[in-house]
Amino acid sequence: MKSTTEFQQFKREQRKIVMVTAYDYPGARYAEAAGADTILVGDSLGMVVLGYDSTVPVTVDDMVHHAKAARRGAPATCIVVDMPFGSYHAGLESTTRCAVDMMQRSGADALKVEGAGEVIDVIRRLTHVGIPVVAHLGLTPQSAAVLGGYKVQGRDTAAAQQIMNDALACEAAGACALVLECVPQQLATRISAQLAIPTIGIGAGPGTDGQVLVFHDLLGYGSHRVPKFVQQFADIGTPLQAGLAAYADAVRSGAFPAEAHTYNIDDSVLERIYG
Ligand code: KIV
Ligand code: NA
Repeated sequence: MKSTTEFQQFKREQRKIVMVTAYDYPGARYAEAAGADTILVGDSLGMVVLGYDSTVPVTVDDMVHHAKAARRGAPATCIVVDMPFGSYHAGLESTTRCAVDMMQRSGADALKVEGAGEVIDVIRRLTHVGIPVVAHLGLTPQSAAVLGGYKVQGRDTAAAQQIMNDALACEAAGACALVLECVPQQLATRISAQLAIPTIGIGAGPGTDGQVLVFHDLLGYGSHRVPKFVQQFADIGTPLQAGLAAYADAVRSGAFPAEAHTYNIDDSVLERIYG
């Protein structure tokens, strides 16, 4: 899809939305060529690409830098970019300035923010400004320290009710889609039925209107600590490691570079210099 206006059309037509993360030019090219409906430049960037152990250190400039690369790789795909930790919590004025800056510099089609509460006002304001906003409820990694780690959310009645209410509030505030992360499938299915906007699940079972996975997790590309909800659809890490090891061996043995990789001049050229 080209823009987030198609999100609701997909839902009306009961077509599953395929979302995948990407953080650079080649990743986004592969995602677009594979026919992903939408790309998320997630702040999971911090963990799978930058090697931090949470999303907290990721900055606005990090997100913009990677989103621009993803945009160049996927010029025809709707790209959603995460607002990083802390960038939408210092009041609506600074949030608006930050969001406008991210939109103008990154080439994003939409921004994503985590949580409800005061974030509902953020969704309303940014939507009013003309920025499509994707909401994100359930496990919200930017607040993992407050949630007590990375664990399933909405398991008891009160917590499930809270997530349902928050989902309705996100929709009422103008969110164009809702990511549901790590919630029981029964709850995700209910929320998906209640909302007119599509839900995009990750660890939320098959009842959502779409699915999202982290690029590195689904391809076995350098990510360790892969959660239960991930299916690994390919293992690119093993051939990648083998390829690098073969290169190292070939350099050390002198097998690389071969004649085929080498440029030549006539011997007479250097004879004129060196005799
Ligand atoms: O940053 C990310 O990759 C995300 C998805 C897991 C939804 O927010
Ligand atoms: Na994220």
